[in-house]
Amino acid sequence: ILPKAITVKEVGPRDGLQNEKTVISVEDKVAWINMLSETGLSYIEVTSFVNPKWIPALADCYEVATSIDRKPGVTYAALVPNQKGLEKALLADLDEISVFMSASEAHNLKNINKSIDDTFPVLEGVVKEALAEGKSVRGYLSTVFGCPYEGEVDVNQVLRVSEKLFEMGISELSLGDTIGVANPRQVQTLLEQFLRRFPQDKLALHFHDTRGLALANMYAALQMGMTVFDSSLGGLGGCPYAPGASGNVATDDVNYMVNQMGIETNIHNEKLLKAAQFIEQRLNKKLMSHSMLVHENN
Ligand code: HMG
Ligand code: MG
Repeated sequence: ILPKAITVKEVGPRDGLQNEKTVISVEDKVAWINMLSETGLSYIEVTSFVNPKWIPALADCYEVATSIDRKPGVTYAALVPNQKGLEKALLADLDEISVFMSASEAHNLKNINKSIDDTFPVLEGVVKEALAEGKSVRGYLSTVFGCPYEGEVDVNQVLRVSEKLFEMGISELSLGDTIGVANPRQVQTLLEQFLRRFPQDKLALHFHDTRGLALANMYAALQMGMTVFDSSLGGLGGCPYAPGASGNVATDDVNYMVNQMGIETNIHNEKLLKAAQFIEQRLNKKLMSHSMLVHENN
């Protein structure tokens, strides 16, 4: 029972750039996001309102968020860790805000400097205020399939934290394979547990491709009827606070695969590749997606 259509959520400007050493100017980020808006993508995570000392590459979050063209029909989102980030994100008037935390204690601490239980009240306040301001709120859960510090993560812990996030009022939860350790069988088993508790249309998958299994994992999720997937153009991405984390599954590869399977995305592949070439030049490094390698060898 494969879905007829899926939603691809582009996280390249956030997850893709947060780990890059090369500084991209505000002007180039804005030009790139504007190109992404013209590809047919319906959702773009444009930046994150975190502490710039922790993520210097996105210190220009406010300028970027307020300088992009907002194409009607496209949802523009950003990551927000706390009240301070929310205030700026609201000033920038983004459509959606994304709160984030980890299923494992050690990664949560390294990434947002708090225990899991101390994170709940912070995010609760953020979600409440964002909803009151008329914003939709997405949640991210990291280290769902494994943690760089703790290894295996107990499924009951993953479900407990997910339950809490939904109770706060998030409209969608994105399950993150932060360091790309998941395998298709694990995806299937985990989703069986999730789908017993939460509606399918409130869950998304966020695969990193560290071990080359992201598309296989995505296929496993498609077979379970899942319809929302995060990806990053050209396969950029990675969390600086997760050693060994590498790029997200590539939007161009995802789009190629599902379109070949007859699954609709409404995303124009040639336009994606043009946008990928643009950021490749600005970063001055080869993007490692398969589609880009094929494209540049032709
Ligand atoms: P903290 O140091 O514990 O914060 O950081 P604090 O509340 O104690 O404040 C300390 C200082 O930070 C203060 O400044 C605050 O004003 C400032 P000072 O008085 O020292 O000058 N501050 C801020 N400044 C700007 N914006 C803010 C903000 N908050 C505090 N929002 C904090 C806690 C959460 C802020 C920090 O740990 C942080 O920014 N972490 C973000 C790490 C991050 O962005 N990681 C990558 C994204 S998550 C990811 O990639 C995973 C995902 O892709 C899914 C997956 O793959 O699994 C989503
Ligand atoms: Mg990620």
